[in-house]
Amino acid sequence: MKIAVMKERREHERRVAATPETVKKFVALGFRVAVEAGAGTASRINDADYQAAGAVIESDLTALLSDANIVLKVQRPLLAGEGDVDELAFFKRGSILLAVLSPYTNTAAIYAYAAADVTAISLEFVPRITRAQSMDVLSSQSNLAGYRAVLEAIHVFDRAMPMMMTAAGTIAPARVMVLGAGVAGLQAIATAKRLGAIVSATDVRAASKEQVESLGGKFVMVESEEIANAETAGGYAKEMSDDYKRRQAELVADTLKKQDIVICTALIPGRRAPVLITEEMVYSMRPGSVIVDLAAEQGGNCALTKPGEIVEINGVSIIGVLNIPSRLSTDASALYSKNLLNYITPHLYPETNAFKLNWHDEIVLASALTHAGEIVHPAFKH
Ligand code: NAI
Repeated sequence: MKIAVMKERREHERRVAATPETVKKFVALGFRVAVEAGAGTASRINDADYQAAGAVIESDLTALLSDANIVLKVQRPLLAGEGDVDELAFFKRGSILLAVLSPYTNTAAIYAYAAADVTAISLEFVPRITRAQSMDVLSSQSNLAGYRAVLEAIHVFDRAMPMMMTAAGTIAPARVMVLGAGVAGLQAIATAKRLGAIVSATDVRAASKEQVESLGGKFVMVESEEIANAETAGGYAKEMSDDYKRRQAELVADTLKKQDIVICTALIPGRRAPVLITEEMVYSMRPGSVIVDLAAEQGGNCALTKPGEIVEINGVSIIGVLNIPSRLSTDASALYSKNLLNYITPHLYPETNAFKLNWHDEIVLASALTHAGEIVHPAFKH
């Protein structure tokens, strides 16, 4: 069985889907591994490091992919018309692709995977069950994103985070508010606390209260009966009612006026991110405040976010950062690669040295979009 690791060609993507460590493990498990030349460069991994781990380096896509049974990527492959090269066209029929495929925003690509007879595994669909924690790319990447979001804010914030008592006077600690206390939000809270800020957070899932408080943050939340049903069985948030949204807007509006930095992380899978900061709220904030909108890719939690840009409105900087894990490419690649290794290994049968996806495994069923030329995921199958 051959595993191919592709170079990422999409803009601003610096991560890679395998490291020398994971290559070594795949080789020890009996796989042949080929890595596209330069695939690890932006994550500070040289071709020679992959070679030392047992991989072959290929600069030609036909040599890399034409006999590859499994293809590892970070982002979805380029299709015809999306870039200089139609990456999917090089895939072997019957091969398995593992990547973050963002299927809700790229539904046309799902048909292309089916037509190419590629078994497309969308890693963000791995269910949140205990057994799958080590395969959970959303968690591994969001954790880094939450940390980095605070640093992005500090970069444009013209004040200090911690309280400083000096002979020349006292500097008050910064106030940081985190909207959405999931994986990214909790790491943002922890990071801001470590830097000495006064931190508060809100979420619609009641379970997050204890987690926020255990990190030393203050939890603010709209008290409502709806909270009991705000979480799906999978641990994700649901869209709230209009009445809840109105009450939440009042709460956020009130709290925002006193904040210096706001980190937005609120997401609802498969939907546009909820707008929690309106234009009016931005105008009510103090000049010099900073909003980092990690939800920018899903439309943003702030109405004035411009994806990929930093805009300043009435003295408030709004950072519409895209693909933040890519800014920590070395660590993000290391964790992502481990997630992929952990996804693949349960499907390897050491007695026969054969690899076969187990189609009775709920992790495979939840994350496979296409198989044997058909769309198989219930959310996209007609
Ligand atoms: P996410 O990235 O989908 O959303 C981020 C946060 O935004 C969530 O906490 C969500 O409740 C919140 N949110 C959504 N709409 C909101 C609104 N209108 N106002 C305020 N907040 C809003 O979620 P994430 O971070 O990927 O995971 C959510 C939870 O899943 C985690 O906190 C954890 O409890 C659970 N989880 C379980 C895992 C496992 O058991 N394997 C692994 C990872 C997470």
